Amino acid sequence: MANPVKIAPSVLSADLVKLEEDIREVERGGADWLHVDVMDGQFVPNLTFGAAMIQALKKISDLPLDVHLMVLEPERYIEPFRDAGADVFTFHQEATGHIQRHLTAVRQAGMKAGLALNPSTPLNTIEDIVEDLDLLLIMSVNPGFAAQKYIPSATAKIARARKLIDERGSSAHIEVDGGITLNTIEAAQKAGADVFVAGSAVFLADDPSAMVGELRKRCHKGVAV
Ligand code: DX5
Ligand code: ZN
Repeated sequence: MANPVKIAPSVLSADLVKLEEDIREVERGGADWLHVDVMDGQFVPNLTFGAAMIQALKKISDLPLDVHLMVLEPERYIEPFRDAGADVFTFHQEATGHIQRHLTAVRQAGMKAGLALNPSTPLNTIEDIVEDLDLLLIMSVNPGFAAQKYIPSATAKIARARKLIDERGSSAHIEVDGGITLNTIEAAQKAGADVFVAGSAVFLADDPSAMVGELRKRCHKGVAV
């Protein structure tokens, strides 16, 4: 099943002093979603944004907000983040024992339900919940920080995820996050990812707007294969 390619710049690497300007740049470049990294200082060793950031972004942009929760007890944020304007709510497999329950609650709250897997978490963990997923996020770095290096084994994991999702007749997105650059995006796309998070590659580029287009161009057919 082929979904159109989506480029999702991560505001983690934006300049908060000129956030609105940075967002306008990536909008001009054709960004599809804005990726918002929420970290609680416990699940990962870094602390970032909460509902106030989601609310602020919603005020300045019409792009769907793709919220990636790297937090323990993600279920606590389903309603507040929905109310703040989140469109996609993705939490980590490693952060809770009640994945199916929380995915269902996310959908009931009116958001797309996403599940993220750390690099060391096996794909077979989603075998019994494929139908509950709107998005599978394959981490290609260990979560917590921007500007890390793409872990090559993510590519084979994406390919296996694409096979599983297609076999089940699911149209869930496969998103890849971490170390996506002009050099790594092509392999991830060929393997079957359709949503590409890029933080430092976009916002630290000389021309963030052009970089969004360059990344998209590297995805040959414009669809997941
Ligand atoms: C890492 C975050 C990523 C991060 C990606 O924990 O989940 O979304 O912003 O940054 P880059 O694209 O610089 O690796
Ligand atoms: Zn992320």
